[in-house]
Amino acid sequence: PDANAVATTAANRIAAVIRARAASDPARPAVLGVATGSSPLGTYAALAERVRSGELDTTGVRAFALDEYVGLDPAHPESYHSVIRRTVTEPLGLDPARVHVPDGAASDLEAACAEYERLIRDAGGVDLQLLGIGANGHIGFNEPTSSFASRTRIKTLAPQTRADNARFFDSPEQVPVHCVTQGLGTILEARRLLLVAQGEAKADAVAQMIEGPLASVCPASALQLHPDAVVVIDRAAASKLR
Ligand code: F6R
Repeated sequence: PDANAVATTAANRIAAVIRARAASDPARPAVLGVATGSSPLGTYAALAERVRSGELDTTGVRAFALDEYVGLDPAHPESYHSVIRRTVTEPLGLDPARVHVPDGAASDLEAACAEYERLIRDAGGVDLQLLGIGANGHIGFNEPTSSFASRTRIKTLAPQTRADNARFFDSPEQVPVHCVTQGLGTILEARRLLLVAQGEAKADAVAQMIEGPLASVCPASALQLHPDAVVVIDRAAASKLR
């Protein structure tokens, strides 16, 4: 029905993956893919509450963020390095050395992208990738027309995405123009996908993702290709589904 139910449902699924991995192979704790933005904040808060109460043990859990702005100092409060530390690493009690964010400040960005792909592979791949969806249907920062086969790379943010994210900056001009993002091909390799969305503003993108054609103009439609993709949305975000 609402954002609280989305957060609880998503947190249950993530907690189940963390517990299942710890039980089946204690030497290889869960590898999570994490998103920034407002959509997963309730989910992170619900998980943090379980960690605080001792209900969930995140020891050894590794996390890979989807994306990062290019040209923003990692110490900037809105860099995804900072956002992930504030909303994921610290509240979930993760070891900072096991939390990875693409390097948007590297002098050789292409090498940094290749290195990020290698890190994910060396970790054994992602067990569960948590996703939000942009109003234009993007996942990660794979803007419309991104290739379904794409890997971690440099992208230009769509004007709508820059406008949507201007709320996190003092002025719209401060929103970076470029980013580094996991590709759709990278995301599709995660063993499970879990997309969360709330609110009317996401209703069109959600309908396109689920009931529209498989088409790169709606990058999230790539979820239709995945054998274990779960979408958790509230009534408002579901309002345009037939
Ligand atoms: C962020 C990301 C983006 C967001 C999307 C929705 O890491 O990957 O795809 O999930 O822009 O943003 P919010 O949740 O702020 O509406």
